Amino acid sequence: MTETQKSATLSLNGETYELPIFSPTAGPDVLDIRKLYAQAGVFTYDPGFTSTASCDSTITYIDGGKGELLHRGYPIDQLASKSHYLEVCYLLLYGELPTAAQLEDFETRVTRHTMVHEQMHNFFRGFRRDAHPMATLVGVVGAMSAFYHDSLDVTDPWQREVAAVRLIAKLPTIAAMAYKYSIGQPFVYPKNDLDYSANFLHMCFSVPSEEYHVNPILSRAMDRIFILHADHEQNASTSTVRLASSSGANPFACIAAGIACLWGPAHGGANQACLEMLKEIGSVDRIPEFIERAKDKNDPFRLMGFGHRVYKNTDPRAKVLKQSADEVLELLGVEDNPLLQVAKELEQTALNDPYFIEKKLFPNVDFYSGIILEAMGFPTSMFTPIFALSRTVGWISQWKEMIADPQNKIGRPRQLYLGETMRDYTDIEKR
Ligand code: SDX
Repeated sequence: MTETQKSATLSLNGETYELPIFSPTAGPDVLDIRKLYAQAGVFTYDPGFTSTASCDSTITYIDGGKGELLHRGYPIDQLASKSHYLEVCYLLLYGELPTAAQLEDFETRVTRHTMVHEQMHNFFRGFRRDAHPMATLVGVVGAMSAFYHDSLDVTDPWQREVAAVRLIAKLPTIAAMAYKYSIGQPFVYPKNDLDYSANFLHMCFSVPSEEYHVNPILSRAMDRIFILHADHEQNASTSTVRLASSSGANPFACIAAGIACLWGPAHGGANQACLEMLKEIGSVDRIPEFIERAKDKNDPFRLMGFGHRVYKNTDPRAKVLKQSADEVLELLGVEDNPLLQVAKELEQTALNDPYFIEKKLFPNVDFYSGIILEAMGFPTSMFTPIFALSRTVGWISQWKEMIADPQNKIGRPRQLYLGETMRDYTDIEKR
């Protein structure tokens, strides 16, 4: 972080305060207000953190105006077309694209950690079969801290490395187990001769009674979906992981917190909500009705998969997913999927509507992903677990960056208090 000679002057209550300005390698300058309360006795106020940088980071950069997303400087569309998920994991974790030897070593380490402790199978038995897979994912991932005692000490770099690899390796296995449990089929063990994405499809869709051959088209589409969801700067779930980690909590508990936050329909739950919305719309002739509802302040309905706190242009991930949806559905022979037609018409209608234009609302990552996932055979309840397993590398990379920072301290925001001032207790007889 480069502290420039620039500073901002704040005049308050007859005093002036100099606030240093830090200049980034890309994006807006930041005002350093760390000493503001101590010097001026005031807090800043920013619910929702619309104007707040919570940390410095070198992992992911988003230009919301241009619709750009970079991971360690590499544009997401290049990574989606030229790389594969475990290579992107390496890039996010270690900062550079790996050499062939480094990639082989990393892939081998991940592959060798894909099984879970056999006792963990018992956790699923305690859930109802109709439990949402995100409920089981939160529970079982948190429970990993009850098993992997040799990777809980966050002060030990080696244990941090082992925890990172275990989480990246085991999330697909646990997510697949959550799916199998929900449909009453037996768990399927990972196979070390399959790559990461093919292995996930195998664990989800194979059954012991017959051979399962992974469709390379689906495996490539799966891998691309994993890449597109891998990391996204300081979004709500990543900020949750950072805040949980700031207390020194173990990595499995922190990732479980991130999964819980991602579940919300305003965040990672939007992919499920979006597909359910497209099904409710049903046909292009009902689109105007839903567009009007989305614009009606008295109607809580929002266009799911649309809008973003940072992107005020099309989410670059949505562009790649839209193209991928066309390719996958055509290759699967379902190119006339009515949901895809509704989605495309809805997008065009919204993008030409003054309300959406004025508020700069564009399709986000969740708008097309559900159409692909449903075409691949996943139920809507598995959409957010797939987002969670993809984002685990982003959470863990941001966690590692924060824990390794010697400036790291517990996150403890303050508040604008609007409650009662001090008053004496009143005995019940006098109330
Ligand atoms: C993800 O942060 C990330 O990076 C997240 C994510 C990641 O990779 O981690 O990108 C993943 O969470 C994508 C977003 C998925 N959520 C949805 O698709 C749900 C629908 N979208 C909205 O709920 C909303 O757009 C948010 C939550 C995504 C962003 O909300 P903001 O930034 O708080 O913006 P806002 O709610 O203040 O909206 C600004 C205005 C409001 O109108 P006014 O009060 O100014 O009159 O735009 C309106 C909103 O009512 N608006 C919408 C809308 N989204 C915003 N109106 C209709 N439909 C929508 N989808």
